[in-house]
Amino acid sequence: MKAAVLTTPGIANLTVQDIAEPEPGPGEVKVRIRASSLNYRDLVTVEGGYGKKQKQEGLIPLSDGAGEVVSVGAGVTAFAPGDRVTPMFFTDWQGGEPNGPAMARALGGSAQGCAAEFGCFPAHGLVHTPKYLTDAEAASTVCAGLTAWQAVVEQGRIRPGDWVLTQGTGGVSIFALQFAKAMGARVIATTSSDAKAARLRELGADHVLNYRDIPDWGKAAKSLTGGAGVDLVVEVGGAGTLNQSLRAIQIGGTIAMIGILAGQTSEINMGFVLMTNSRIQGITVGSREMHQAMYRAMEAHEIRPVISDTFPLDEIRDAMAFQQAGRHFGKVALTI
Ligand SMILES: NC(=O)c1ccc[n+]([C@@H]2O[C@H](COP(=O)([O-])OP(=O)(O)OC[C@H]3O[C@@H](n4cnc5c(N)ncnc54)[C@H](OP(=O)(O)O)[C@@H]3O)[C@@H](O)[C@H]2O)c1
Repeated sequence: MKAAVLTTPGIANLTVQDIAEPEPGPGEVKVRIRASSLNYRDLVTVEGGYGKKQKQEGLIPLSDGAGEVVSVGAGVTAFAPGDRVTPMFFTDWQGGEPNGPAMARALGGSAQGCAAEFGCFPAHGLVHTPKYLTDAEAASTVCAGLTAWQAVVEQGRIRPGDWVLTQGTGGVSIFALQFAKAMGARVIATTSSDAKAARLRELGADHVLNYRDIPDWGKAAKSLTGGAGVDLVVEVGGAGTLNQSLRAIQIGGTIAMIGILAGQTSEINMGFVLMTNSRIQGITVGSREMHQAMYRAMEAHEIRPVISDTFPLDEIRDAMAFQQAGRHFGKVALTI
């Protein structure tokens, strides 16, 4: 089968090769993967950024995938050949609170990922794909979608009329905008691009702030809410944006700490945390229960993931360079 394989760290060392097809062991399901999509995390993985936490030799990257069942191993009853399925980011996190063992096996990191024509996954690490989604759309929910779902719904507990602040127009943030609007919330979105601002408005953003033109965008966001502040910040910038998020947050609000696009360390004005009684909540993707809840809500609201550009597997390096340059809006997909 064709697969993208990483021998040594670096996008330039990612090559599409012919390797042996995996066969399902007991409890496993063999899937013909039809599509995948990229996350910022995949760029970090391919550069070797997770060190010993990622598979060292012959890693097949990319957490995201979707396709159909080819065959099942002994004991599998939940899936049958022909079923459309989506492998989960964390194979073993079935539900409840996150813990070490549940988060140990992550596709395209500590375990083989989806940049391949076939993959074998434990049956408990798969969910059925909603009928209305294409494989590329389903794949794009695996990491970015579920992370946004956990931030907005599970941790953010957003209700109609609440204010949500999203940052930039990458995969997580666009899903967060879509989920927040589906929950009846009002959304203030930031971006560095006026062209992308127009697309954010089309997707339902109530206000858009250009974070390059308005460096004090946190204060501007607070003023847009009438002075009270936002209920939830979907924080993908990390340390480099947290001070502005703390300017925007309302008393008792939540900052869902997801990414570090703007840096991992910085001086933070802790006074804002205590004065606002805000909660900074780390998020890592989500569980099977959350994934299924997300799919139920997506089906009910017919939420379609936003795919900005699609590349064939053979052009995975070009796709990664495109994502790295921040030229996308939403998700970059791969057809396999
Ligand atoms: N914790 C988790 O479980 C989890 C899961 C998924 C992702 N993440 C993390 O979340 C972050 C986003 O991931 P992604 O895959 O959605 O990324 P992505 O699609 O590559 O997003 C890139 C976009 O982020 C925006 N951006 C970049 N720097 C920014 C800044 N300083 N302030 C505001 N926006 C900025 C830009 O939007 P504009 O072009 O509009 O300016 C850029 O196009 C990454 O750090 C990733 O590692 C974490």
